[in-house]
Amino acid sequence: MAQAWTKSDWRAKPRVQMPDYPDADALAAVEAQLASYPPLVFAGETRKLRDQLAAVSRGEAFLLQGGDCAESFAEFCADSIRDTYKVMLQMAVVLTYGAKVPVVKVGRMAGQFAKPRSAPTEVREGVELPSYRGDIVNELDFTPQARIPNPAKMLQAYTQAAASLNLLRAFSQGGFADINRVHAWTLGFTDGDEADKYRDMANRISDALDFMAAAGLNSKTAHTLGTVDFYTSHEALLLEYEEALCRVDSTSGLPVAGSGHMIWIGDRTRQPDGAHVEFCRGVQNPIGLKCGPTTSEDDLKRLMETLNPDNAAGRLTLIARFGAGSVGDHLPRLIKTVQQEGANVVWSCDPMHGNTIKSGSGYKTRPFDSVLREVQEFFAVHRAEGTVPGGVHFEMTGKDVTECTGGVRAVTDEDLSARYHTACDPRLNASQSLELAFLVAEELSVSGRASAVAAG
Ligand code: PEP
Ligand code: CO
Repeated sequence: MAQAWTKSDWRAKPRVQMPDYPDADALAAVEAQLASYPPLVFAGETRKLRDQLAAVSRGEAFLLQGGDCAESFAEFCADSIRDTYKVMLQMAVVLTYGAKVPVVKVGRMAGQFAKPRSAPTEVREGVELPSYRGDIVNELDFTPQARIPNPAKMLQAYTQAAASLNLLRAFSQGGFADINRVHAWTLGFTDGDEADKYRDMANRISDALDFMAAAGLNSKTAHTLGTVDFYTSHEALLLEYEEALCRVDSTSGLPVAGSGHMIWIGDRTRQPDGAHVEFCRGVQNPIGLKCGPTTSEDDLKRLMETLNPDNAAGRLTLIARFGAGSVGDHLPRLIKTVQQEGANVVWSCDPMHGNTIKSGSGYKTRPFDSVLREVQEFFAVHRAEGTVPGGVHFEMTGKDVTECTGGVRAVTDEDLSARYHTACDPRLNASQSLELAFLVAEELSVSGRASAVAAG
């Protein structure tokens, strides 16, 4: 039985990675204002996502979660939302083909503003200032003024999230998401010589679509080929913002985070007795939980009991982020814990956060090969254990940035400075994201065949 809960109980628990606002009155005023605003998402949508994630946990669908490490106020514009959305849809078509099941699309968008940091302060040339914690908290500029946490930024984040969601909903329903159109963009990627190794799969997808069209299935005759479900997600880090947007669902009478469809708990804030777990356990949304090398079996057991006491499928997604070369050391022990508990979870792979390195040129980067290797290790462990590799979680953008090295259109160490725009961690660019989708699709078709053989 779940224990009683209110949306402000987290305040009595130990908190980490949250700012100390110097002006308590200003903070209270912002919280009151946000609490009076409409929620950004509707509870029925979060229930629908839960149902779809339940299908993912059974291997009947596949989860694609992706977007910025940190959304930025300065970079906010229709083009960047469109480009990230577009590349996610392209990836989804490729993954659908590989997995032969529907792909559940969840953006790290419309709320992914607050960041945990490895140190509370940053030192440059002997000057020490509070760390940048994302645009919803303070500013990236290295000045004392810019680094003061300012609660008014929560209002700007809310406005940006509302406008982003508005555009995403319009794209999803208004004709932009037509599967033939999306696939035509993908063919553009495989046109170049570098990506010719993916052309065969792209051609097979074209054939499948041609066949469907000949059979009379197109976006005019089949609504689902012209529209998509697209969900939003972010790390539930800034709990004042989360609490202020928490609402009671009028249908079920239960609390829901109104800030996004899915929220997750980061690797640094998953203390079983901490504030972040306390907040997340009480809302009905699908919850993600990052699992890293330091996640102990005992902690995972307690977290699963706390976050999903009813063991509902689709409620909890475990997002594994161990680093290439380490998946075999950690994933099997955590899978065993899940199995011992008989817990229903989605297993997703975040091959980004365990693979961040400092490049020779001084930039924080992630080698494409390490990202790919972690994904392959994740699939291999699930194949060996007979469990379901449910999804992938990427930091990516639709823009042609140079933040991660490698890929068929290779970004080198020397290239990093050309278009390094991230406000936080390095992201895959459009070409690297699509390439990864092809490679994951290959893994999925192997897994699919393996389970077909097992079943046969
Ligand atoms: C993130 O997803 O941006 C992040 C900080 O991840 P993690 O908590 O896994 O380090
Ligand atoms: Co990140």
